[in-house]
Amino acid sequence: MVERSGEGMSMSRRKLRHIDACLHGAVEYETVTTGFERYVLPYNALTQTSLGAIDLSTTFLGAELRAPVLVGAMTGGAELSRTINRNLAEAAQKLGIGMMLGSQRIMLDDSPTGTAAAASFEVRELAPDILLIGNIGLAQLSDAVLPKLSVALDRIGADALAVHTNPLQEAMQDNGDTDFRGTVARLHRLAAEIPYPVLVKEVGHGIGAAAAERLRGLPIAAVDVAGAGGTSWARVEQLVRYGQVRYPAVAEWGVPTAQALQEARSTLPGMPLVASGGIRTGMDAAKALAMGADVVALARPLLAPAIDSPAAALDVLHGFVEELRVCLHGCGVPDLAALRAVGVQQLS
Ligand SMILES: Cc1cc2nc3c(=O)[nH]c(=O)nc-3n(C[C@H](O)[C@H](O)[C@H](O)COP(=O)(O)O)c2cc1C
Repeated sequence: MVERSGEGMSMSRRKLRHIDACLHGAVEYETVTTGFERYVLPYNALTQTSLGAIDLSTTFLGAELRAPVLVGAMTGGAELSRTINRNLAEAAQKLGIGMMLGSQRIMLDDSPTGTAAAASFEVRELAPDILLIGNIGLAQLSDAVLPKLSVALDRIGADALAVHTNPLQEAMQDNGDTDFRGTVARLHRLAAEIPYPVLVKEVGHGIGAAAAERLRGLPIAAVDVAGAGGTSWARVEQLVRYGQVRYPAVAEWGVPTAQALQEARSTLPGMPLVASGGIRTGMDAAKALAMGADVVALARPLLAPAIDSPAAALDVLHGFVEELRVCLHGCGVPDLAALRAVGVQQLS
């Protein structure tokens, strides 16, 4: 059971409600799937690879990764968020993968609350070498936010900024930001001015053809399709607001991740792409990479282990990476470029 919200919930309290809902509520899509189950990775019984020699390394946003995996954007702002972020950062450092932080909106607040919240994003001392990506909502971008955002990214030692676009989530949220007019122009200005590479992401309802078309020509560095099939934020917000899913059709709405990936790839051919939203196994990751993603990200499956300990977070992420390695071996390819060349087969 998810506890219901009242009006005017504080930002850090809302973060805790989100975490509670994601830990204990039925927050995943019920009828919509990622679509990866409709594809198979071709199996090759005469592979000429050695499992231990499979090379998963790649470069993303100018950083070297030992595997094409990012910890998905989750949290910040509350004391529990600090534990989550630090445990995930420690695991990411050990594995040589990247990490996206949750929204830094709370850090932009000049009050003592904002200053205190900053500590929950400070992970650099534990993870000096990882690709670290800060986060802000598209709906919260304003001219006043821009300079503060740069300071917030400097302060945590980020390498890049993810801007999440989430109209469905905000529409379901109690007191959400529901005016998205002018946001593409503001995104354009931000990406042109801020001295950080900007990645644009959804939160689990997908960046498909129509949204990708709006991103064409913008000075952004990458897109995370964050498609449907995993955590539904229109569902999370309804559970937090009403204690139940009042609008099930909206909770089940979005561009499935495999479709979003294909649409974004054909609309933005040269754009570095992250596949996320319902990526749960190394096999999901292998299919997404074979279909043209540069890296994958996963969020909710990491939440409970990240609350537990750095070792628990490492265990889940290590298993995920090792399954991905087995997939390349079984497919007969030594590295990610060869995996992309092999591609996937669609089931009839
Ligand atoms: C507890 C939690 C908090 C999240 N907070 C943020 C956030 O602050 N910013 C953001 O861009 N995405 C946020 N997300 C969305 C994820 O980054 C991701 O896009 C979405 O959950 C779909 O991925 P999944 O199916 O692997 O969970 C959050 C996800 C979870 C589970």
